[in-house]
Amino acid sequence: MSLHVVILAAGQGKRMHSTLPKVLHPLAGRPLLAHVVDAARRLAPRRIHVVYGHGGTQVVAAFDGEDIDWVEQTEQLGTGHALMQALPGLDHKGKVLVLNGDVPLVGEKTLAALAEAGRGGLAILSCDLIDPTGYGRVLRDSQDRVLRIVEHKDATPDELAIREWYTGALCGSVARIAAWLARVTNQNTQREYYLTDVIGQAASDGLEVICVKAGDAWEVAGVNSKRELADLEREMQRRVAQRLLEEGVTLADPARLDVRGELVCARDVSIDVNCVFEGRVTLGERVRIGPNCVLRNVSVAADCEVHAFSLLEDALVGERCRIGPYARLRPGARLAEEVHIGNFVEIKASRIGAGSKANHLSYVGDAEIGSKVNIGAGTITCNYDGSAKHRTVIEDECFVGSDATLVAPVRIARGSYIGAGSTISKDTPAGQLTVARARQISVPSWKPPKKTG
Ligand code: UD1
Ligand code: MG
Repeated sequence: MSLHVVILAAGQGKRMHSTLPKVLHPLAGRPLLAHVVDAARRLAPRRIHVVYGHGGTQVVAAFDGEDIDWVEQTEQLGTGHALMQALPGLDHKGKVLVLNGDVPLVGEKTLAALAEAGRGGLAILSCDLIDPTGYGRVLRDSQDRVLRIVEHKDATPDELAIREWYTGALCGSVARIAAWLARVTNQNTQREYYLTDVIGQAASDGLEVICVKAGDAWEVAGVNSKRELADLEREMQRRVAQRLLEEGVTLADPARLDVRGELVCARDVSIDVNCVFEGRVTLGERVRIGPNCVLRNVSVAADCEVHAFSLLEDALVGERCRIGPYARLRPGARLAEEVHIGNFVEIKASRIGAGSKANHLSYVGDAEIGSKVNIGAGTITCNYDGSAKHRTVIEDECFVGSDATLVAPVRIARGSYIGAGSTISKDTPAGQLTVARARQISVPSWKPPKKTG
């Protein structure tokens, strides 16, 4: 029996108080909807359909290039109406699993169990682990058979006392759900076509509705407010930290680590507090990351140390490098092995050869730096002339004195020495000392000015 997944994601998410569509709010660095799509993909369904509406083009654009069937619901008339929009794309001999786009932590095992239970006609995912306020309650008869779902807003006080609630996920036969949906009306307090009404339809047709119970409260937790989003973020981060610890990573404090993407660590990596990892980050063996660092799409090879308060972005770091404290590697920084980048040094779109050092207060942009180069404190590559960027080349074994300004395009040939405070605007010859600054003079006849008044 073929399986299609429909993810309902057209709602506005009023309680988020945001112009960003709810399903695009990031959780661990990725849109809420991406987590649900991931969960669906693990079941290897024939097709994934997403019903979208609010902020439509934005939602579709965020998943550019992914194999998703986008179904537009131009007016949000309820969850039942939403599923109806997707019906034409489904296999009417197969079954459909319906998920909410705002329930991101739903687990693979639970979904597999629900998909299996849906074979018989209709199965729903329910939960009685947490406070059911706001959710649809599961009504049962005296023999415990499911009768129907009543929405919180339509429920009587007795019905509100029921603890078991519907989580928004169900699975059943496409043909039968289509028939039940055709009978759903919007005669309720919200004037909406409720998908939950198909459960009552199924029961009145004499079908047994199977309830699969959620494994834990997190996997059915929905995001309706920033507060719920923050709670789920903490839970996600707790899980990531647990996994890293299990893999052997040393975390100074698992509660003070944020991974917004994928962090891959080799053996004996240690990470101090308050570090943020974004995109794809790989850390080689024995890498040590100091406190308060941010690493975004970086690869750091074995035995490197990144000291406190450093920001590394779209960069490659070779083995045994020392970076920071307070260093900044911007996109395109590529360090060979044993490079030292010290405090308040910024490197952009530059390659730095083995054993080279820039230890203090420098800007190196659009440069090609050889090996064993020493870049003195305060050295600046003047790469921008107001309209275009130019390259600076510093060949192997050069020594650039402190406070040099290197006006690009310029080439500092192998073994050059540059006097401190020089402004270098012409290529330098190899192996020579070049000094480009006003000569120092002293005036013996000078007298201090007399104070007047
Ligand atoms: C729904 C269920 C409720 C359940 C709860 C679990 C119904 C009628 N009620 O209520 O029983 O306890 O989920 O979270 O189904 N959506 C659309 N188009 C629409 C309306 C909603 O795509 O016209 C999408 C939303 O984007 C959301 C999902 O459907 O992802 C659920 O909608 P929501 O408005 O959150 O339903 P609830 O009132 O929470
Ligand atoms: Mg909801």
